[in-house]
Amino acid sequence: MSDIAVLVVGGAGYIGSHSAKALKNAGFLPVVIDDISAGHAHNVKYGPLIKANMNDKAAITDAIKQYNPQAIMHFAASIEVGEGEKDPLKFYKNNVANSIALFDTAIENGVKNIVFSSTAATFGVPQSKYIDENHTQEPINTYGRTKLMVEKILIDLGKAHGVNSAILRYFNACGADPDGELGEEHNPETHLIPNVLASIAGRRTMLSIFGDDYETPDGTCVRDYVHVSDLADAHVAACKYLIENGKSIDLNLGTKNGNSVLEIMQAAERVTGLPCSREICPRRAGDPPFLVADSTKARQTIGFNPIRSDIETILKDAWNFHKKAWNI
Ligand code: UFG
Repeated sequence: MSDIAVLVVGGAGYIGSHSAKALKNAGFLPVVIDDISAGHAHNVKYGPLIKANMNDKAAITDAIKQYNPQAIMHFAASIEVGEGEKDPLKFYKNNVANSIALFDTAIENGVKNIVFSSTAATFGVPQSKYIDENHTQEPINTYGRTKLMVEKILIDLGKAHGVNSAILRYFNACGADPDGELGEEHNPETHLIPNVLASIAGRRTMLSIFGDDYETPDGTCVRDYVHVSDLADAHVAACKYLIENGKSIDLNLGTKNGNSVLEIMQAAERVTGLPCSREICPRRAGDPPFLVADSTKARQTIGFNPIRSDIETILKDAWNFHKKAWNI
């Protein structure tokens, strides 16, 4: 019997490509749909690439007819929070309108299992130390609002059309494929770990530390860093959950361990054996001081087990990838 196909929309991007690899390793055929506007064709190595936007009804319909996928993983989105504040319509079009087009085509063609990339940004300002799925969702930026809107759309589609969705809210995705085949390549890069490593590698003059006067142990912001390959495994587990149980689920994916900006920087210095030049800069707008997940539900329902998400492993894998990409 041929492998069960899964459409991986946005599968040429960071988390999408790692998830395509995890699908392949679990015996599925990942069929990537990506317009390569932000992703990279060289990340698509584990199944076919269909170069199309998710709003391309004809291309998605053809892909469904050809491969008969049992599920869709939907990663495609504009993700840079600051850009969303400057150009909200781009975010509402890419993240909301195009998702609606994708779901329309999926329903029309009978694909009813959808794994959706959501984010901790849907919660807004944390009201409790650890954030579980019952935390209120009051996003404070356009990016978070677009993701929350799609969450609500999926719930409505569940009621009206029997769509089963797995809403996966990532905290801080980071690291790289342990085999060195994939990694983080955003342009522009705004995320902490690639920026720390770029400073260490001399590819930027200084790391800017955005604020050291927060109410946290060392004054810098604390985040819940999750290895991208652990997230990828969670996507496969969520996909199997939908196929086997035929019901929807929403899960926060983190580790319940926080690391501060300074701790990440110091760990990167240990792992690479090289110093990181840094400067303290003003706070970045919209950064909560402490953002850490309670992922008990994910552990209990899909067996989420972030085995690679200790900070040393994250940095070692990210550094291996960047060393190769940067010819170091
Ligand atoms: N930071 C720096 N210097 C940098 C980059 C980041 O000090 O050069 C700090 C930030 O201020 C923040 C922490 O490092 O305190 C982490 O920042 P990232 O940009 O790596 O990640 P965020 O926590 O801002 O964002 C992540 C995801 C977003 C998502 C958000 C949810 O990348 O997509 O979590 O809250 F929206």
